[in-house]
This record gives sequence, structure tokens and C-alpha cells, in this order.
Amino acid sequence: MKLADRYLKLPPYLFAGLEQKTAAMKAAGVDLIDLGIGDPDLPPPAFFVASMHRHLDDADTHLYPTSQGDPAVRRVIAEWFKNRFGVTLDPDREICVLIGAKEGLANFSRIIVNPGEKVAVPDPAYPVYAQAGAILNDAEPVRLPLDPEKGFIPDISAAEGCRILYLNYPNNPTGATAPDEFFDEVAAFAENHPDTAVVQDAAYSEMTFGGYRSPSLLQFTRKAIEFHSISKLFNATGFRVGFAVGSASLIKPLTALKTQFDSGAPLFIQRAMADGLTRYDGATPPPKIIQNLREYEKRRLLVEDGLEWLGWDVLKSKATFFVWAKVGDDELPVVNAAIGKGVVLTPGSGFGKSGTGYVRLALCQPYDRIEEAVERLKGL
Ligand SMILES: Cc1ncc(COP(=O)(O)O)c(C=O)c1O
Repeated sequence: MKLADRYLKLPPYLFAGLEQKTAAMKAAGVDLIDLGIGDPDLPPPAFFVASMHRHLDDADTHLYPTSQGDPAVRRVIAEWFKNRFGVTLDPDREICVLIGAKEGLANFSRIIVNPGEKVAVPDPAYPVYAQAGAILNDAEPVRLPLDPEKGFIPDISAAEGCRILYLNYPNNPTGATAPDEFFDEVAAFAENHPDTAVVQDAAYSEMTFGGYRSPSLLQFTRKAIEFHSISKLFNATGFRVGFAVGSASLIKPLTALKTQFDSGAPLFIQRAMADGLTRYDGATPPPKIIQNLREYEKRRLLVEDGLEWLGWDVLKSKATFFVWAKVGDDELPVVNAAIGKGVVLTPGSGFGKSGTGYVRLALCQPYDRIEEAVERLKGL
């Protein structure tokens, strides 16, 4: 079958070989500690699962949901946003429920980008921005290097002329957070560039530690769109729900576009998300979530210390369950040696050229397994 050029332009999957190798080792019974995949090992909180069970009995839950999401769920999101960030949203014009942030980040680009135009993406970054956001629209990704000297913050002036500027703080893969001054700069850019859609991916906004709370870009400008997810907040990556908030001029076409592609997230999952958000006490997450965050923080400190001992240059961060470490000029020999010791790491170059020489560790294994992984790495 002849395949479309835009599909064929997707870069080859860099780690297919690595994945095959680890799968073969697992099948052969090798005791591998997988710090590659950012998928929470902790279970969803009981309140979230119980809520889904309850809403399965709702009389309308078997029906097609609407593409913008249940109006009552959008009202809860607006209330949560007001309590959490101090930003008032119109639930009918400024909120769209999504089938996860990934779906929204990818689909959003279709309402903005024409073939041949440019899309600014951080480098390194979550691959969806360059691939779904640019390449699958026959557009060109413009890479904005995240400079370690500047705390992994890009120079956004390089996004001049781009139709979308994707940003992501707290950041995957680096774990970096952005200072308020950067959000001020982004706000000024958004005000001065009406033809560039400024997108903030806030998938990790709730995964922060040590008293740090991530702001919303909407506190700094309303001329933007922000994508939120409960995947990591409620350890619910498989349930597929999130939401977009922001300028009505972006939410409206996003909703219209989605009517052509999907029929929305299942109602019982949307409602469980809403019930979970109502468990916040003002801006404070429910106790079970605070407990989960303490566990991730403990794992983070363990790994940051362990890798420093190894002589790797580690970004110490107060957010995300990703640890980003510089291991040399080329990370692939280190990644291969780690597999030899039974530890799977993600090579930084898979997130973009600027990730070369780095590895990402996802803290999605129990504490004692991570402790064991660090010991194994010390033997490299
Ligand atoms: C930066 C970033 N954005 C978005 C997502 C996807 O979120 P969701 O599960 O809501 O689609 C991920 C998941 O790994 C991510 O790392």
C-alpha cells in the first residue's frame, strides 16, 4: 500500500532496538528494573475508582458524550481552576474536555497549522509536539533548545513566524520548572504575536514537591491555551481524560474539530475526574494525593543523590517523576551498559538533538526497586 508522505516523514522510532532487547531479556527471565516508561506504578486513589463504578450506573453513561464534555463536568473544572490558580473561566466558552492531554495537543494543531508553516517545539520535548503538531500537518518543526545554563528554558524569540509555540512546564523529560519571569515573557510574546498560538502543556502541574506549586499560564495571559491531564494526578493514564482551558477563540474551533474525530471521553470517566477535582480543599490536593507526591519526592531525592555519587550532572527539581542527568557526550553506551546491569533508562536523544548525552529516569517503580537500580548503576 502506498502510504501518505506526511506519515512517511515521521522519524523512525529510535528505540525500537532497545525495546526489542529489553523485551527479549524480560522474556528470558532477566530481572530488569524499568525506569524507562513514565507510567505510574502506584494505583489510582480508591475514591477515583469508586466514583467510576458509581457513574457506570448513570442512566446516560452509555450514550455518546459531547465533544466539548459534560456541562456539569466543565462547571467543576471551572471551580477547580478558580480555587487552584485564581483564574475565572467560562465553562461554556473556555473549557473543552479531552480524551487525555495528548489527544488535545495533537488535534489542536489541525485548527492552526497550514502545510509549509512552522511550529516551535522545545528540544528536548515530548515527541507529540513535533510529530503530531508539525510533521503530520505537513509543517516544519522549529526546535528551541532548552539551555541547561538557563534552567532548561528556551529562547522564545526563535518562535517568531511560527504558528504554534509549544511549552511544557513542569517539563518532560527534564523535570524543570519555569520561573514567573518566564511566564511573563511568554505572556508578552502572546500579546505581541496574535498569529502564534501559545500552548502550555500543564500535564505535570499537580506533580510538584517541597512546597513548590506550578502556576497556570492563564494567570499571566488569557491569549493562550493550556492542556491539563489527570493521568499523573490520579495515576490514571489508562482511563484517558483531561481538558483544555483558555481563549474562547481557540477552544471553540478545537471543540468543532473534535466533532469530526471523536465523541468525547466516556461520561463515567469524565465524572470521576470531576468528583476527584472536587476533593481538593481550595488549592490543596486530597490527602491521598499528597501521600503519593511524598512517595515520588522520596524516590526523586534517592535518585538525585545516587546519580550525583556516580558523577552524573543531575537536574535537582521540585516537579515531575522524571530525573534528567547528563552522562557524557553520548548517552547510548551508558544506556547499553545499564541494561547489562538490568536497569532500563531512556536515552535523551530520543526527545531531540539537545537531549544527546542525557538519560531520563522515570521514577515509576517501588522505592526498594529504585534503590536496587541505583546500586546497580553504581556498579557501572
Ligand atoms: C509532557 C506530556 N504531555 C502530555 C502527556 C499525555 O497526557 P495524557 O495522558 O493526558 O494524554 C504526557 C504523558 O506522558 C506528557 O509527558
